[in-house]
Amino acid sequence: MRNDAAQQLTRLLSGARAAGVAMVPVSGYRSYDTQASLYASYVQQYGQATADLISARPGHSEHQTGLTIDIGNANGACGLQECFGGTPSGVWAAQNAWRYGFIVRYPQGQTSITGYAYEPWHLRYVGLTIASEMRSHNLSTLEHYMGLPAAPSY
Ligand code: DAL
Ligand code: ZN
Repeated sequence: MRNDAAQQLTRLLSGARAAGVAMVPVSGYRSYDTQASLYASYVQQYGQATADLISARPGHSEHQTGLTIDIGNANGACGLQECFGGTPSGVWAAQNAWRYGFIVRYPQGQTSITGYAYEPWHLRYVGLTIASEMRSHNLSTLEHYMGLPAAPSY
């Protein structure tokens, strides 16, 4: 990950640990090629429409920016599944990630805005200022914060 995001991630993981939550990083930076093979495997497994809901096409993933981390529970509970949102790490992240400059980038019920299914494990670093502003104005997506239109189709 990029340095500032990595430093804040370290603080976030310590904060979770201090709260008794065993959280681990699962997937951070990805190259174009890695994203390409991930996306291709989803298309093969589920078809393109579903693949586009759960994976960015190569060249479009936040993981390629070094500003994003997928988190998990140390015991693997609900890894990269919707039910992660109800586990200790998912609940703690939803409530506290903003304190470290991260947001849950693809919240529940916002697919028409973000273009992606609910991903309670996918944290995007936006910095402390923006994360705090989004929190205090109750803005759940970066599209709302930036005044951007809903995710366009490819
Ligand atoms: N799963 C997210 C949308 C990505 O592929 O970047
Ligand atoms: Zn992710």
